[in-house]
Amino acid sequence: PSRSRLVVAVDGTSGSGKSSTCRGVADRLGLRYLDTGAQFRAMTWWLLHEGIDVHDPAAVAARCEEPDIASGTDPLEPTIHVDGTDVGLAIRSDEVNAAVSPVSAVPEVRRRLLALQRATIGDGGIVVEGRDIGSVVWPQAELKVYLTADPAARAQRRAAETGSIDISGTQDSLLARDQIDSGRATAPLTMADGAVHLDTTPYTLEEVVARLVALAEAVEEPA
Ligand code: DC
Repeated sequence: PSRSRLVVAVDGTSGSGKSSTCRGVADRLGLRYLDTGAQFRAMTWWLLHEGIDVHDPAAVAARCEEPDIASGTDPLEPTIHVDGTDVGLAIRSDEVNAAVSPVSAVPEVRRRLLALQRATIGDGGIVVEGRDIGSVVWPQAELKVYLTADPAARAQRRAAETGSIDISGTQDSLLARDQIDSGRATAPLTMADGAVHLDTTPYTLEEVVARLVALAEAVEEPA
């Protein structure tokens, strides 16, 4: 059967393998893919670019309606643009890594991006990854998954992605972000009601993708 309207919500910590997993699942099922973390990163990139103090919530709130943030949803080639500029590489910088959690904690930022995320999900047919997709953005998702992995495994993966040789520094920065993401008042990282919890530590990417594809295939197509 066609799975064209399915919504798969995938939440979890940094470095749990969310992005690669979600892209693989979307590709296998013929669904679109939305990386909401990239949107928070794009907002953060723009604020830094504008010279706004990202640790001043009032300053961030006052400007966060301004940038035009556009996500391309092809799982094989996801894109992110701010006011027409491709920021796909720039949003992975150390500066953005260090600033994205405080920016993401600002309620006005979340409200703005929430509207964008819901508009993109639209009629469904998409795998959406983030921290609050199953709990806040799309609680009615047909499949909700919560991905975790051991901190050491996450740091290894993230360092391999970024080419860093500083595994322990990478681990510290992941854990610092987790703590802010889980502790914030608005839409903290949490396992949504009805989510399937999968610890990816012992599995390869292919195994995790296969597991999620099987779960998605077991879900009834929404009417
Ligand atoms: O998934 P990521 O590491 O690219 O996400 C970057 C940051 O964005 C993360 O530290 C918290 C924030 N984020 C969020 O608050 N809510 C989401 N739905 C996705 C990301």
